[in-house]
This record gives sequence, C-alpha cells and structure tokens, in this order.
Amino acid sequence: MTDNSTVALAFSGGLDTTVCVPLLEEEYDYDEVIGVTVDVGQPAEEFDEAEETAEALDLDHYVVDAKDAFAQQCLDAVKANATYQGYPLGTALARPVIAEAILEVAEENDCDAIAHGCTGKGNDQLRFEAVWRESDLEVIAPVRELGLTREWEMEYAAEKDLPVEGGNEGDWSIDTNLWSRSVEGADLEDPGYVPPEDIYEWTETPGQQEIETIEIAFEEGHPVAVDGEELPAVQLIEHLNDLAGSHGVGRTDMMEDRMLGLKVRENYEHPAATTLLNAHEALEGLVLTEEERAFKQQVDQQWAEKAYEGLLSAPLVDALDGFVDATQQKVTGTVTIKFEGGQARPVGRESEYAVYSESAASFNTESVDGIAQSDATGVAKYHGFQSRLANQVAADAEAKKAELLTDGSGDDEETEE
Ligand code: ARG
Repeated sequence: MTDNSTVALAFSGGLDTTVCVPLLEEEYDYDEVIGVTVDVGQPAEEFDEAEETAEALDLDHYVVDAKDAFAQQCLDAVKANATYQGYPLGTALARPVIAEAILEVAEENDCDAIAHGCTGKGNDQLRFEAVWRESDLEVIAPVRELGLTREWEMEYAAEKDLPVEGGNEGDWSIDTNLWSRSVEGADLEDPGYVPPEDIYEWTETPGQQEIETIEIAFEEGHPVAVDGEELPAVQLIEHLNDLAGSHGVGRTDMMEDRMLGLKVRENYEHPAATTLLNAHEALEGLVLTEEERAFKQQVDQQWAEKAYEGLLSAPLVDALDGFVDATQQKVTGTVTIKFEGGQARPVGRESEYAVYSESAASFNTESVDGIAQSDATGVAKYHGFQSRLANQVAADAEAKKAELLTDGSGDDEETEE
C-alpha cells in the first residue's frame, strides 16, 4: 500500500457502513477513509444521521446532491413503462446514479480505492461495482469479503464504541428515494406474514378517501405538468408521491427474484411511479399503432431487466432507447387519472397524435374514407379461414380412420350376406 492511501466509502451512517470505517483502516490498511452520501431524495433524517455519525467517527464526509439526475432517470424509466415483476425499480435506478457520484468524489480526491457496505446476498453490490469497475480504482466490499453478519457488526460496534443507533433486531430494513420506499427484513422475511399498517409511510390505508381526479400532461413521453401546472422533475414526482400517497395508491407486496437467484419478500410504496406509469401507458394506447405497442412491450421488458441489473449503460440499452425514443415522439398529450379505492386509474386521454378516428370507430356512421360497413363482409369470410381448413382436414382424417376400422371388423358379416 502506498503512503497515505485513501478510500472513498459509500456512506449512509447505518450499521453496515459505520463498521466499514474502522475496518477499512484496520483490516485493509488504509490511512484515510472519506465517506460519501448521495442525495437521491432520502428523507432529511437520513442525512442528519449520516452527518452525526460521520462527525462522531471523525470521518471526512461529502454529501452530493444527485436528485435532478435521479429524477430524470426515473422519468426515462416511465418512457419504457419500466417495472420488474411489478416493482417500479426505485432502488435499482438509484444505485448507478449513486455509484457515479461517489466515483467522481473519489477521483477528485485522488483516492486509491472505493468501497461499499453491501452484503454478498443482494443486488446492490453488483450495481455499484458495475459502475466502479470501469475505473482503475480498487473496489472493496468489507461486509461481503469479511463475511460479516449483523450480529457481529453490533458486537464490534459496541466494542469499538461506534455511534450506531437503530439497527436493532426486529427493525425493518428500509431504502427510500424519490421513486420508491422499500421495506424488507425481520418479520417480513416470512412470505406468509401479513404486514401491519405501520410499515407504510408514504401511503394512507386505501379505500377511505374521497375520489379525486387529476390531469397529467406529457411531452414526448415525459410528464411535464399536473393539473396545468408545469413542474420540474423532482417537484413533479414529490407532488404526486404526496397526492397519490394520500389516496393509498402504489403499494406492492411481492416475492422478488434477485439477480443471484434468491427469492426475497419485498414491500414497496411508489405512489408517483404507479400514477405516472399508468398514465403514460394509457397515452401510448392512444397514439401508438397496435404493432408498435406489441413490439414495445418486448423492448420495455428488456429495458426493465437491464435497469434491475443496474446495467443501463449496456450498449443494448442504447439500441433499446433508440426504439423507445422514436415511439415517444408521439407520446404528447394529457391523461386524466382518477384516484379511487387505492388505484390510479386512467379515465380519459387526449393527444394530437391519436391514431384514432371517432367516425371510423363509431356505431353511428355507415361509411368512412369510402369504406362501407359491408366491405368488411369479405374480411369476415376469410377471417379464421386457415383454422377452419385445418380443423376440417383433421376431422376428415379422423373419419377416414374410423371408417377403416369399421370396414375391417365388418368384413366377415358382409361376406356372409
Ligand atoms: N430488492 C430491491 C432491489 O434490489 C430493493 C431492496 C432495497 N433495500 C432495502 N434495504 N429495503 O432493487
């Protein structure tokens, strides 16, 4: 190790990253550790906790504001209708943004290495390292490499008199950012355990609210205004989290297949994401052709998988984005959303690009663009032609077989007659 070696640590002030600070010095021989906390919309208390813990540890602490970049990333995910097994990818989308921001601080401070406090079981280690391993810095994962358990960390923290609060046995593990709040661990690890209402912080108990209707305006696939008021990305998401959350919109309780193959039980809250995803898809339903919609579902699925893996920088995603962006040129218009019974249901949509002719679809017009109702007769005659033919061929073959059988067994009778 060189003189005065420095390591930048992804720091939250929680138990894992707090124990990493002395461990990086003792076990990995670094002279200096700097902690970096990246703001992707966590609640203010989390920054206070990080700040206080850093101070108590005498840790050089940086806070980087990446809210705008993250909000843009979330709205790009809306263009691809991105969800993974029903989860709108809040944690997954945030990790590369956080990793980039930490890498920048590490490089500015001439660090030799970069570290995270993720375990060897989750997705986040992979998402962080996919970004960091593009640099020349050494990547360190003390919790994974030293095989630490929560229990060991608690004891070590007590022994070293480290400033850890929370992290108690039985506490949920929570990850919050602008796009979603995730709750896992403790009792929730039992897939059959029904969560108590108090795990939810962003969403009211659904079904007890007055019905409310709002209008969301989109421009080229991005939401830009709510009820006529233009809002920058961060504020738009925050506003919809408050509003839709007050209607109990956006709860997901699911089994999630992690990248390493583990199945885990997850609970998520994501009111803005649900509202925007529903509205966006409703607008696409109006402006895209049937074949664009069908093909886009496959593209969206691939996009969401790469997002889950933290690999949106993959060349494949550039190509997928080419298709997504081409389709989004027409995704401009407004959608009316009704909050009712914990749902954010699209109940109206409008666009200058609507692939829709009211007179063509209406029951009240006889002919459109010179095409009369009766012109469909030929189409109707042909519709299903191939299936009918195939079924007929199969039925004829069956009949022939049956006939041969009866002929064979009836031979004697016939000769006797
Ligand atoms: N399983 C989710 C993902 O990989 C989120 C996990 C969030 N972490 C937490 N401690 N609640 O994207």
